Amino acid sequence: MKTLREIRKNAIHQLEGAASDHAQLDVDLLLAAALGLNKLDIILEPDREVNQKQVTFFDNMLIRRLAREPMSQILGKKDFWNHSFTVNRHCLTPRPDSETLIESALKAISDKKAVLHILDLGTGSGCLLLSLMSELPNSIGVGIDISDKALAIAKTNAKRLGLLERCEFIQSDWAEQLPASAKFDIILCNPPYIAEAEKRDLAPDVRDYEPHMALFADNNGCREYERLAEIIPALGQAGTHVFLEIGHTQGQSVLAIFNKTVAKNIRIIPDLAGRDRCVALNL
Ligand SMILES: C[S@@+](CC[C@H](N)C(=O)[O-])C[C@H]1O[C@@H](n2cnc3c(N)ncnc32)[C@H](O)[C@@H]1O
Repeated sequence: MKTLREIRKNAIHQLEGAASDHAQLDVDLLLAAALGLNKLDIILEPDREVNQKQVTFFDNMLIRRLAREPMSQILGKKDFWNHSFTVNRHCLTPRPDSETLIESALKAISDKKAVLHILDLGTGSGCLLLSLMSELPNSIGVGIDISDKALAIAKTNAKRLGLLERCEFIQSDWAEQLPASAKFDIILCNPPYIAEAEKRDLAPDVRDYEPHMALFADNNGCREYERLAEIIPALGQAGTHVFLEIGHTQGQSVLAIFNKTVAKNIRIIPDLAGRDRCVALNL
């Protein structure tokens, strides 16, 4: 039988050769998953013997990581805000930067116990909608996505977090399938915003594994903001709060797009790294 020390050393060496930025961390997380241990045990018990079944399980995950599949997809989960979200190749892996939208929304809402109607356009894994709903105990949510496979993941997450009864998921091209009478108090949206020209600069982990309909947009990445600017004003009422994620170079372009609408109080909010990450506005 092999020991953890041998397996770990060999795997780190292989992953470093495959240009992984976090070879050691990745190997420890994969070993922990294969052995049903936590990451610390992997480091603290180097002489632990690993049986053949566990070695095979680990090797299969390592092969996937060597091919640059994202850790989130191999492990099937990703932490976001205060929860762990189920993810797969049909939804975008939640990014820490997107927590800027949750923080901004919570700052803007004074009565957290109110019955608030929340809309999440392009819900993907449901991470934005469900994280915000988990902080607003009487909120009611609608998550929209054009991808039925992404919606299946969002529903799984809603069920796991005990929020399914308070929310609904609709397959739609943005608001097309919503009744004209639907009005929301909070609208969240992280649309696709990467310009096609930037595709070749993306890490293979993203470019080759994440759904392209979650990533890319025409007009230098701004096409969906233009469409959303036409749709969003009809989805709220006076005072509705809107939070849109943006690429860090897109602040002024998105501001200009929404300046042409009835929106008020349009502002750019930075993420924790100080880069432009969110355009917030009121209807
Ligand atoms: C950048 S991802 C955001 C996913 C999730 N909200 C998050 O923040 O991790 C964009 C999402 O919008 C969806 N999408 C793209 N175009 C759409 C459209 N026209 N109508 C509805 N959803 C769309 C994609 O399928 C994808 O799930």
